[in-house]
Amino acid sequence: MFQPETIRYNDLRTPYSEAMVNQVLERVLSTGKVTGDDGAELDLHSHVAPEQGEFIQGLIREINAVTTLEVGVGYGISGLFICDALSDTPGTRHFLIDPKQHSEWWHGAGLKNIRDAGFGEMIDFRELPSHIALPQLELEGVQLDFAFIDGWHTFDNTLLDFFLVDRLLRPGGIVAIDDSEWPSVRKTCRYIATNRKYRVLRCLGPGKRLSFPAVRKLMSKAARSSELVSKLLRAELAIPDAELGLLPNSRCVAFQKLEDDDGRECFGHEEF
Ligand SMILES: C[S@@+](CC[C@H](N)C(=O)[O-])C[C@H]1O[C@@H](n2cnc3c(N)ncnc32)[C@H](O)[C@@H]1O
Repeated sequence: MFQPETIRYNDLRTPYSEAMVNQVLERVLSTGKVTGDDGAELDLHSHVAPEQGEFIQGLIREINAVTTLEVGVGYGISGLFICDALSDTPGTRHFLIDPKQHSEWWHGAGLKNIRDAGFGEMIDFRELPSHIALPQLELEGVQLDFAFIDGWHTFDNTLLDFFLVDRLLRPGGIVAIDDSEWPSVRKTCRYIATNRKYRVLRCLGPGKRLSFPAVRKLMSKAARSSELVSKLLRAELAIPDAELGLLPNSRCVAFQKLEDDDGRECFGHEEF
């Protein structure tokens, strides 16, 4: 069984405040409040947690990423972590995509935070749905080292985000998928792990085992012994997440692209 590197919360021993250099990020996370670009005072929500931010920063630094992208800006917390990790490298560029940044949900606060933190020159923001903005970047010839997907979390949106990001990502680059414990997002992760030339590089915990591991083991064994049983079982039972390198319940999964696979056969797929 392939074993990717796994990080559980308890493994993240660096105190958050030590790792953090940006004051805006520190202020927003310690007060739990943000201000919209219209002056609205808002409670922070739906953002990446500090340990997720540090997980992302580790990935960016590991491959010395220069060009990065995120789908889903919200209050700009992931963006602040990403720009912070890029800020020591010359010539960096961070693309942000969100069609609703100036809606009643976010009040432009994400972009404001990122600009207030001094990263305005580094960013390229597209106020469009990702299925329109990502092909636009392909037409512009953008090539990415790192992407973070945290947009609309339906299965089809997440899969489409991955499909379009893959077309921009260089071999060796990393795509991290947030909220990977959500069934719709997890399904996309299983598709990537089973059908595409990517490897699971790292999972962010908590990594709680699902219940009844013995039953799961038995089902998996039965599925392997008979093609019929395998067809009758859901793919998740026939090939458990752990066998694909996906830590059960992990909330962010980082995949590393091994190579471009544009020339795939156009019929059939591996069950996922
Ligand atoms: C969970 S929030 C992102 C939080 C952000 N990553 C952070 O850490 O602060 C999800 C974001 O996805 C955006 N979104 C919704 N539909 C989208 C789409 N079709 N394309 C891109 N972003 C979308 C929402 O407007 C929202 O800002």
